[in-house]
This record gives sequence, structure tokens and C-alpha cells, in this order.
Amino acid sequence: MKALVQSAYGGPDVMGLQDVDRPTPGPGEILIRVRAAGLNPVDFKTREGKLRLVQRYRLPIVMGNELAGVVEACGDRVKRFVPGDRVFARVAKERLGAFADFAAVDEAFVAEMPDDLDFTAAAGVPLAGLTALQALRDELKLKPGSRVFIPGGAGGVGTFAIPIAKWLGAQVTTTASPRGRALVERLGADCVIDYTIERFEERIGDMDGVFDLVGGETLVRAFGVVKPGRKVVSIAEMPEPQTALKDLGRGYGLAALFWLASFRLRRLARKHDAHYRFLFMHPSGAELAELARLIKDGVIEPVVDRVFRFAEIGEAFAYLEAGHAKGKVVVQMSEP
Ligand SMILES: NC(=O)c1ccc[n+]([C@@H]2O[C@H](COP(=O)([O-])OP(=O)(O)OC[C@H]3O[C@@H](n4cnc5c(N)ncnc54)[C@H](OP(=O)(O)O)[C@@H]3O)[C@@H](O)[C@H]2O)c1
Repeated sequence: MKALVQSAYGGPDVMGLQDVDRPTPGPGEILIRVRAAGLNPVDFKTREGKLRLVQRYRLPIVMGNELAGVVEACGDRVKRFVPGDRVFARVAKERLGAFADFAAVDEAFVAEMPDDLDFTAAAGVPLAGLTALQALRDELKLKPGSRVFIPGGAGGVGTFAIPIAKWLGAQVTTTASPRGRALVERLGADCVIDYTIERFEERIGDMDGVFDLVGGETLVRAFGVVKPGRKVVSIAEMPEPQTALKDLGRGYGLAALFWLASFRLRRLARKHDAHYRFLFMHPSGAELAELARLIKDGVIEPVVDRVFRFAEIGEAFAYLEAGHAKGKVVVQMSEP
């Protein structure tokens, strides 16, 4: 089968399409014929080695974090799926493997696709959708009437975060350039600030929470817009001790390293009487099934910016790496 293989850490030239053996599903695993796979910034950050402290891979490895496809075969003890089911998944972080004609995935990470979604739309849902759900519902605990600030609303995660925050009953303020304004308004943002000409802290304050998708200076300034005692959750900056202990299930060694790395941000948070949290999302078939219901009910409408053929996956990476995607970037595998 064809697969995108990473052979070293570095730039685009360390990855390429190769012929490799089809994986065999182990107990509790499903073999999926991949019809489409979503791209995410984590794909190029992994390739560059930026996440080596969090996840170290034995190379070469088949890349790719999320997919949609059809169940081809089931390993022993698989209970919920049968061959022919249309499914999607955020695959295991330790194993990857979504950029391939076939992938073996733990049943616990898989859910049935919504009936009227096509494979390309479904492939872009799992990673960004689960991240938004886990951040807004489980970390920020948004409730009806909460006021949330989501900088960077027009990208892959933002286009899930806005409708999910609205579904939770929150009032949503986001930032976008003129290129993204119409999209975030269509998704339900109540207030859109053009980050290219305005400083958001001059327009807003007293937020019940921030979900930061941008990092850097944006995150630094965001501490000033939350109410005392509230949380700023980032997915784009520096991990902190809870990232190691809660999200990664790792020990105090890594937590201590993250304590040091996040010292400046935590001190800044304290100065504003706020809390800093860096969330590392986790795969979950059960939560993906919740997202499938929200899609079926029309709460979430997956936004696909561009679809590339599998042979063009290098171009798909370059497009996403440029940092201006509006919604998700997806590659489509050939028809079986
Ligand atoms: N920790 C986790 O578990 C986790 C999970 C998912 C994603 N992430 C991280 O979260 C970040 C966002 O991911 P994504 O998939 O949404 O990325 P993405 O799709 O590449 O985001 C691109 C969008 O960001 C907008 N943007 C860029 N700079 C901005 C700024 N300063 N202010 C407001 N908007 C800005 C761009 O708008 P314009 O082009 O119009 O400027 C573009 O529409 C990445 O760093 C990713 O690695 C982390």
C-alpha cells in the first residue's frame, strides 16, 4: 500500500510516499481502508522534531493523525464494528499512520461517521473537533451565558470551537483577518475583532475564559482580558505541569521540566489573578460519537478549506504550513 513515511526529523525532504506493508489489526483493533485524512499543524511539528520531548518515535514511521474510511477487517475482540462500516478516528499518538491506504486503529478511538457526511469532510473532524470539545466543555466548563474569547477562530480548530462554544450557550468573541471574517461570522461568532488592525484588549475584558489557538504575544495579552480567578487555556504555546500529569499521564520529571518552561506564563497569569493551562488533546471514540451527533443535529458544520490528492500531500503540507487555512486541509486517497 502507499503511505507517507517520515524517515528523519527535519524539513519536507525527510518525508515521502513509499510502498509499505499493509498493517495487520491486533486484538481490539480495526483495519480501516482510509478514504481521506486530515492535516494538522501537529503533522509538521512532529516532522520537525518539535514535539520530541512529548512523543519520541522510532523512525521511519507512517505519518498522519486523523482519518475517515471504511472498516476492512476486525481483529479479535472487536465488538462495535463490522466490515463495511463508515468510520472516522483520531488515531493513537504513539503510533500515527493515517496517511496511508490502510491503517490499524484501536476500536476505542473510532466512531461511526455521520450518515450524510462525505469522507473528506469527516476526515477533518476528529483532531480539531475533539480538541475544541475538551477545551471548552471540560477545561473551561462553559455554561449558558459564559463569555469566551477565542483568538484565531478561522483555522482548523477555531471552526469547531466557535459552534461548540455557541452550543454550550456561550457568547463568543474571536479574532480573524479580513480573509476569515465572513467565515467566523457564519459559524456564529458574536463579536469579531480584526487582529491585523486592532488590539483585542482595547475592545474586550471581563471574559469568563480564553481558548487560545495562536500563542505568542496573543496569549500574553489575553491574560489581561479574563475575570479574576478564571482560566486561559492554550493549545498553541508552552506546556505546564498539568499537561504532563493529566494529559500525557507522565511523571514528575516531565512535569518539573514543564514547570520551568512555563514559569514566565504562569507568573504572568498570577499577576492577572488568572490560571494558565496548556491542553494536549486525547483521542476518544466516545467523544467523537458525541461530535457525530452534533454534526447530525446541524450544530457543527465541518469546514473544509482545500482537498488535495494523496500524490499531492507535499503541497498540502506546504499550504497548511503557510498558516492561513480557513477550516481544514484534507488529503483524499484514491478510490478502491
Ligand atoms: N495541544 C493540542 O492538543 C492541539 C490540538 C490541535 C491544534 N493545536 C495547535 O493549535 C494551533 C491552531 O491549530 P489549527 O489547526 O487551528 O491551525 P491552522 O488551521 O493552521 O490556523 C490557521 C488560521 O489561523 C489564523 N491566524 C494566524 N495567526 C493569527 C493571529 N495572530 N490571530 C488570529 N488568527 C490568526 C489564520 O488566519 P489568517 O490567515 O486570516 O491570518 C488561519 O485562518 C496550532 O499551533 C496547533 O499546533 C494543538
